[in-house]
Amino acid sequence: MTWRGGAYQGVRPLLFSLDSERIHHATLSALRLAGSNLPGRALLRLASGSPASGTAVGLMGLRFRNRVGLAAGFDKDAVALRGWAALGFAFAEVGTVTPLFQPGNHRPRLFRLADADALINRMGFNNAGTEAVAARLARVRAKLPDDFVIGVNIGRNRTTPEESAIADYVAAYRALAPVADYVAVNVSSPNTSGLRSLQEPSRLRALLAALAGGAPSRPLLVKLAPDLAPPEFDALVSALADSPATGLILSNTTINHVHTAGGLSGRPLLPGMLAAVGRARELVGDRLVLIGSGGVFSAEDASAAISAGADLVQLWTGLVYRGPGLIGESIAGCYDRRT
Ligand code: FNR
Repeated sequence: MTWRGGAYQGVRPLLFSLDSERIHHATLSALRLAGSNLPGRALLRLASGSPASGTAVGLMGLRFRNRVGLAAGFDKDAVALRGWAALGFAFAEVGTVTPLFQPGNHRPRLFRLADADALINRMGFNNAGTEAVAARLARVRAKLPDDFVIGVNIGRNRTTPEESAIADYVAAYRALAPVADYVAVNVSSPNTSGLRSLQEPSRLRALLAALAGGAPSRPLLVKLAPDLAPPEFDALVSALADSPATGLILSNTTINHVHTAGGLSGRPLLPGMLAAVGRARELVGDRLVLIGSGGVFSAEDASAAISAGADLVQLWTGLVYRGPGLIGESIAGCYDRRT
């Protein structure tokens, strides 16, 4: 274990003794504050062990300074982007953002399964809504490093009827694409009833066609669930290779568990993520960019995702269990494989 990992393991029992959502908000506030000033940003860089410079990659017409990013749902409202950039991430995916503000589900709605290195969440798309997030992104962009990539993950409001879902995605795209480098289409969150039905190939094709017509044009990534049966997965991924989608994010949280209601994330997702990335790469060759999301907890895990065929990897639950040092380790793990 590195000294960074050791230091984090020292404070973790205290963090884990407190309510998980409160710690989450406190982390975001601290990151926002540290990211706003030079000494704070230097401290964040030190805490993450990220290299000051690295080997950049070009994907989707964008430049990524390394292959590691923050997954959606950690900073839904884009409050701490300068902090994420200072920690060394090449990109952060904000959201899921819905057209209108929504408070999400009742608390508690975020649970630790510490024995399994996992979390369960049923947040329910709590977010500030497109208008507020777009305004924040417009303000912060100029303060971010030039090569920091902003992804915006979009979804529909809970109160929008399923049959009007596409209109919500189009409205969110229209508001957020101008301030995003790529747009991720979330059709896989388990906590909005009916959302996953948009993974049906003909519905997904209609959704992507509606978004592809929007201006400005941005790379479109589709985030899938890890719970698709193999034939469904194959059919869907093959259909997406021949669609306006630029890439896939594999995958979201799983409902395949025996605990309290919600989506499970963390270490148990790693084998499925590697298999999904490997299979998708086999099916689509170089036609789609693939982002691996699920259970990355070490340099070896990040490296395995890249070896399986991922172009980029995202972190979320690993940060809770391993601390910020995971960012530097993951960046180094990806170098070993592809650069
Ligand atoms: C998420 N995730 C998520 N994904 C998404 O597309 N939109 C969202 O709003 C959220 N929200 C969210 C909240 C919480 C509390 C967690 C733990 C996760 C899923 C996340 O982006 C990621 O795909 C999975 O968590 C799997 O990766 P990890 O956590 O195992 O690295």
